[in-house]
Amino acid sequence: MSNLDNERYFSSFDESAIWNDSEPLLCTSVVPEAPNVATFSFASPSGAWFKFKPGQFIQLELPTAQGVLQRVYTISSSPSRPLSLSITVKAAPDSVGGRWMLNHLEPGMALKAQGPNGLFTLADERPRKYLFISAGSGITPSLSMMTYLFDIGKAPDICFVHCAQRPSQIIARRQVESMASRVPEIKLHYLVEEDDPFTVWAGYRGRLTQIMLGIMAPDYVEREVFCCGPEPFMQAVRDMLYGLGFDMNHYQQESFGVVVAEVADEIELNDTVPDDETVSTVLFSHSGVSSECLQTDTILAVAKSSGLNIPSGCTMGICGTCKVKKTAGEVHMVHNGGIAAADIEAGYILACCSHPMGRVEIDV
Ligand code: FES
Repeated sequence: MSNLDNERYFSSFDESAIWNDSEPLLCTSVVPEAPNVATFSFASPSGAWFKFKPGQFIQLELPTAQGVLQRVYTISSSPSRPLSLSITVKAAPDSVGGRWMLNHLEPGMALKAQGPNGLFTLADERPRKYLFISAGSGITPSLSMMTYLFDIGKAPDICFVHCAQRPSQIIARRQVESMASRVPEIKLHYLVEEDDPFTVWAGYRGRLTQIMLGIMAPDYVEREVFCCGPEPFMQAVRDMLYGLGFDMNHYQQESFGVVVAEVADEIELNDTVPDDETVSTVLFSHSGVSSECLQTDTILAVAKSSGLNIPSGCTMGICGTCKVKKTAGEVHMVHNGGIAAADIEAGYILACCSHPMGRVEIDV
């Protein structure tokens, strides 16, 4: 079943049977994965099913003691298991949102959410072979994609490379090994930087190198590469593949919600620059609120100062949370891959990085 088949499958459902972010997510389980890492699963209170693409992310509102925080997490479960949605969260030492989740979020609690969003997903046209390369909690999109490919059958040819600090920090290890043990075409390789004391480690050690990659995936040139992890890790993988002469049209990466735009979604350069002395008007047509502002203001800022709430996350044109429909007028938008070309074509903009050029109407 391709993504298109998946779409067709869901299109046979009544829309009310599919979850949308007008209802909260109900936490149903918390499973520890590794030190400071847990998987949180959610159901919809109405019993609706979850429709998303493997690799997409969701934004949660976390009611922490410091106030409500918006945080974006890649979905680690697969849309082929649509009764629940899971995210796998690592709480870094200085994190507030991740720490709140690990310390406070329990089954029975409900969180507001927006999404799913994101362009780092499997293409509708399936390549024959995949190479998933991840580090740390960057395993989550690969996990969703591999589970999806595993569930839809057809023996997916996957080379799954995951890097962790130590063996005990490998996330979802049993789940990944369970899939690899059932499908001979799934090849699994772990690479750690240090051993755990008093345990045996028979896998790779050190940093991923060209030689290691050649041993793990001798046919890497034939594979579609998906990479996710901290930026320095992805930079190293990019440099390595580039140095090997890999065709980078077959390389995609994500960094916890940061999407590298596909060619079709590249930013169109626009010569018109917002002027900080020119006045514009934004009409929020649904609310009937009209506000004068400067061209250098963003639609998101104008909405906020007018007492309206447009959900937002990164505020950098990355996550797509602030997507709204523009029904009239022109904006100057410079995004970072958070909106697809098809959405722009259909009149959507990202409020956080769109500046009103004259009179603009927004459907909020
Ligand atoms: S808030 Fe993330 S794209 Fe606007």
